Amino acid sequence: MKKKLFIETYGCQMNVADSEVVASILSDEYEMTEEERTADLILINTCSVRDNAEQRIHRRLRELGAIKRGRPGMLIGLLGCMAERLKDKLLQEEPALDLIAGPDAYRTLPELIHRAAEGEEAYNVTLSREETYDDIMPIRYAANGVSGFISIMRGCDNFCSYCVVPFTRGRERSRNPQTILSEAKQLLADGYKEVTLLGQNVNSYRYETADGTVTFADLMELVAQLSPTLRVRFATSHPKDISDELLHVMARYPNICKYIHLPVQAGSTSMLQRMHRVYSREQYLERIAAIRRILPDCAIATDIIAGFCGETEEEHQATLSIMKEVGYSAAYMFKYSVRDNTYAATHYPDDVPDELKTKRLEEIIELQQSLSLASNEQDVGKTVEVLVEGTSKRSEEQLFGRTSQNKVVIFPRGNHQKGDYVMVTIQSCTAATLIGTEASTSTKL
Ligand code: 5AD
Ligand code: SF4
Repeated sequence: MKKKLFIETYGCQMNVADSEVVASILSDEYEMTEEERTADLILINTCSVRDNAEQRIHRRLRELGAIKRGRPGMLIGLLGCMAERLKDKLLQEEPALDLIAGPDAYRTLPELIHRAAEGEEAYNVTLSREETYDDIMPIRYAANGVSGFISIMRGCDNFCSYCVVPFTRGRERSRNPQTILSEAKQLLADGYKEVTLLGQNVNSYRYETADGTVTFADLMELVAQLSPTLRVRFATSHPKDISDELLHVMARYPNICKYIHLPVQAGSTSMLQRMHRVYSREQYLERIAAIRRILPDCAIATDIIAGFCGETEEEHQATLSIMKEVGYSAAYMFKYSVRDNTYAATHYPDDVPDELKTKRLEEIIELQQSLSLASNEQDVGKTVEVLVEGTSKRSEEQLFGRTSQNKVVIFPRGNHQKGDYVMVTIQSCTAATLIGTEASTSTKL
């Protein structure tokens, strides 16, 4: 009988995809369980992008330590970015941990587990220039059966001055497109209706083949051609690399979702320079204009950092004004948190007082609330295609799904179920949700 494996995942979608790869690597010996108390092995896939993410995981490890004391033989392992960043400290300070594996070391997990079970030291945080896990078919244990992730590249070479990712995930490398296509075909065969291609900076995807270079635009086209009923999404884009060629491919394929996550981080050229983002405010806005021109119905979402080193009131105001100018449909908003080893940590003082960071973040969040509401209000009265993901949390009678623009829609169940495409007329909205009823002429994509 196989042993039981429980994986808990924090951080980005890349981590979700990685946990599925880990489940596959361990599948000869372990089957997944949703019950941590009866697991033989608990793996925590961690995130280091901000300090509060790491603090949460330290607290969680203490809880798991308590469970482990009642279950001799249970092993606890830590994966992901924190493993890479804090191996030595974790070995000393977290007695509950039996093994540690960094993002490029997952193939060695069976061996690490074996060593840990023997009571030996078990860690591997070696980064690789080649590893893409491209021959491993993930086990989608946590997916909803409708929407799946495919990781198309790993690492990051951008070295934004605030960001730890190049240190925890290593150099950028792209995965063989043939293996990406076979994974997408497998998802289709398993009944999935949507796939999201993932990378830290997908626009710089490049793979050399005997027939020439495959760019991200080429790859999107190849995946979109697999089936008109498979929705294709991608994340995340870097403003410096998002090409018109990609926007034109998006325009040509109705099944490529009209949603772009284009992190701006800050609205002033001076701040963008300190962040090493390699674009100015004007260059970012030029890319927005290109999206609006080529994809008039595209929603644009972003990431914003409040209170980065040396941020003046004027720079903060520039962030608020760019948000208004673009009219983001959604945003992920964060307070700056110093990360060891980054350029900012070693060159700039973290000099915006915490209360001011909080105040600015609150202003940003409040503005985004009104922008999200305004964006949703524009959809009221429209009929949109919704891919159903499941039953609404609030009511068994309601389904929820997403539009191509990644907006959440709630509507009465009718005869529909998870995985259906339904045409829904939007009647009302909040800043977070569109509320509608099925249109009389529901058709498949
Ligand atoms: N502090 C706060 N936010 C950060 N991000 C990355 N590094 C930091 C940091 N040190 C944010 C960026 C990025 C998102 C994934 O996390 O906005 O786009
Ligand atoms: Fe967090 Fe970044 Fe690592 Fe993802 S890649 S888990 S966001 S630190």
